[in-house]
Amino acid sequence: MSSKEHVCVLYGGNSDERAISIRSGKAIMEALVRQGVSVTGVDAKNGYLKELQTQKPDLIFIALHGKGGEDGEVQKCLDRLRIPYVGSTAQGSQRAFDKAKAKRIFKKQGIPTPKSVVLTQKNWKQKLAHLSPPIVIKPICNGSSIGITMVESVGQLAKAVESSCKQYSIVLAEQKVVGREFTVGILDGKALPVIELKPKHAFYDFEAKYTPGLTDYLVPAPISDQLKRTLQMLAERTHAALGLRDFSRVDFMVDSGENPYVLEANSIPGFTETSLLPKAARVAGLEFDQLCLKLLELAKRRLKGSLK
Ligand SMILES: Nc1ncnc2c1ncn2[C@@H]1O[C@H](COP(=O)(O)OP(=O)(O)O)[C@@H](O)[C@H]1O
Ligand SMILES: [Mg+2]
Repeated sequence: MSSKEHVCVLYGGNSDERAISIRSGKAIMEALVRQGVSVTGVDAKNGYLKELQTQKPDLIFIALHGKGGEDGEVQKCLDRLRIPYVGSTAQGSQRAFDKAKAKRIFKKQGIPTPKSVVLTQKNWKQKLAHLSPPIVIKPICNGSSIGITMVESVGQLAKAVESSCKQYSIVLAEQKVVGREFTVGILDGKALPVIELKPKHAFYDFEAKYTPGLTDYLVPAPISDQLKRTLQMLAERTHAALGLRDFSRVDFMVDSGENPYVLEANSIPGFTETSLLPKAARVAGLEFDQLCLKLLELAKRRLKGSLK
């Protein structure tokens, strides 16, 4: 980065993942300051348009997770302002954020993903007959495991689906995969080392994600070379199939027969120094500060519309 360029980190916002976005934004700003980049932060809680029009940054590092950040909204706005930003386009972000949309693309492209149905407040009663637990009920557009319910028996099904549909209007009921959990970060289209997640809870829920000590992270994951290659190849295919850019993180379950299933792709994964993608990058030899700089360099290639 040349010292004359000014970078703005957008963080916070008002999604369910605000607290995590503040942590990601702070970590990115500290790294960029350490590297001598001219950087300011804008908390997107009450909008950001006026602030950006005043500051006129050359580049933006979006550290917003969830709604407003990962769903294409901020990207659309920055496209209108013609300010290049780190990460995926509005369209790519939308495809990844909407789990039903993403799964349709996975199915079309032969990327394995658990069987699922979309349930709405109107149709859930008719559709229940087609579901056999164990299944996972999840909001179509959310993250950080917020709103996820595991349904282990038929007896629990109606109540769980009804209350989830009431809260979210539209939800995904997905076959539960019993097995091991992995995640693979992508940097500039290439897979980073595979991470295995071993939550001490029944699954990788919100607490297990953000409470130190509640999940063990093994990187590189203790798996065969073949499984490692398969997960990395599927992560790269998922990133490409959704049309993602610069970076992403793809979540997997693998059953006892070593069959992998893609759960989802995160277009702006957690970005503190101890978050998963930065952990994998470190194992690949890229420290957090260098990782932040590398992402800025990727966005910089798009300055003045040179490359998109
Ligand atoms: N089909 C599934 N089978 C088993 N576990 C699942 C399944 N779907 C989700 N989970 C568990 O729930 C967590 C969050 O689900 P995910 O689809 O990645 O949504 P989020 O966007 O909230 O991270 C996963 O990390 C995993 O532990
Ligand atoms: Mg996930």
